[in-house]
Amino acid sequence: MDLMGKITALCKRRGFIYPGSEIYGGLTGTWDYGPLGTLLKNNLKNLWWKEMVQLRSDIVGVDAAIMMNPKAWVASGHVEAFADPLIECKVCHARFRADKEDEIKVHIQTHEGKKVEWTSPKKFNLLVKAYLGIIEGEQSEIFLRGEITNGAQVNFKNVVDSTRVKIPFGIAQIGKAFRNEITPGNFIFRSREFEQMEVQFYVKPIEAEAEKWFEYWKKNRMDFYLSLGIRKENLRFREHEDKERAHYAKKAVDIEYNAPFGWSEFMGIHNRGNFDLKRHSEYSGANLSYKDPLTGEEYIPFDIETSAGVDRSLLFLIIDSYSEEGGRVILKLNPKLAPIKVAVFPLLANKENLVSEAKKIYQELQKNMMVAWDDRGNIGKRYFAQDEAGTPFCITVDFQTLGDKTVTVRDRDSAKQERIKIDKLSDYIQRKLE
Ligand code: GAP
Repeated sequence: MDLMGKITALCKRRGFIYPGSEIYGGLTGTWDYGPLGTLLKNNLKNLWWKEMVQLRSDIVGVDAAIMMNPKAWVASGHVEAFADPLIECKVCHARFRADKEDEIKVHIQTHEGKKVEWTSPKKFNLLVKAYLGIIEGEQSEIFLRGEITNGAQVNFKNVVDSTRVKIPFGIAQIGKAFRNEITPGNFIFRSREFEQMEVQFYVKPIEAEAEKWFEYWKKNRMDFYLSLGIRKENLRFREHEDKERAHYAKKAVDIEYNAPFGWSEFMGIHNRGNFDLKRHSEYSGANLSYKDPLTGEEYIPFDIETSAGVDRSLLFLIIDSYSEEGGRVILKLNPKLAPIKVAVFPLLANKENLVSEAKKIYQELQKNMMVAWDDRGNIGKRYFAQDEAGTPFCITVDFQTLGDKTVTVRDRDSAKQERIKIDKLSDYIQRKLE
């Protein structure tokens, strides 16, 4: 089985990610996160939020509605320009993005030497439509947001008026986005419902200032992913060519990951100039300019955006930490991201004194972190099950524990064991998680 096959199977087997609506035959381009996947996703989002909002004084967070007045999508240019070039195979009518040459090549091979002709590319709008209202015939057509950005942009004035932010400052947001992707695929890499983590960082509308912050955010975001443990050789920057830039971007650089299916976009840093605020001002009639409280100078700021996919980040973190050693799978996730931080085992499930001692430890640790309990089978199998789930530490209560109040703590990556006093356990684990 290839690596993507192994990872997809592991994610299903261990409850990270399941196919969406599986019992009904699925729904293309949707995925459901299981118990471990939900924890991992929350840990990633919490770390991102901590770094972007909690530890900074120049970024504040919002959580805007997914459903917006459809005029916002006209103003942001998405109704007109948020489109991919679609072509259709004249042999089997399968549809592809004309700019995805690799996917087209793979498709041609499926026709085994037959001459494959294509329709000429036509623009296909990616916005997902929905109908709002309770009276048939009077419902209004709206769009599910194609990017989370608009919710931040339309609240620019609200944020300035209700907080103490001063330019340069950012608005952070995490939330779901929806796109009618022509070819969803590569597991959770390209789906129709996904989550984004973004900061719109507003700066003075001076090219040199925008360029300075653009470079700042490029480095800042690369450092973030390196700090999560992704190998340096698997990350790179790639600047967009003029023809591939989104309609709102003056400049765009992606951080790419060296995925099993080729170098692939992980997240983007975009100089959106004053495109969004200017257009929302024009279309809504609201004044979205900023008045400098010291100089009285009034201007529409430039926006340097960092936009990352939560699901893609998660996929690449899983791929990068996947390893096989001596026939067993170890998910060497950064302990800060690991869904379960520690597992507690009584050596034998039928020895009441071992079980009750282990239960006490389990319940104590649960107050501060996610803890797993396992008393099935032999200890080796329990270790392997936790290695696959990415659990960094396993604690075993054995007969020595009853005498000297120590337990073994086994490290996932080195498989080494240390004996630690029970009353020092919580501090010991917390320190390792910092
Ligand atoms: N606000 C800017 C924006 O949305 P984008 O490059 O279209 O820019 C940003 O998307 C990020 O969102 C991408 O780098 C990717 O991580 C994620 N993303 C975009 N489309 C996606 C999809 N169909 N499935 C999963 N993630 C996606």
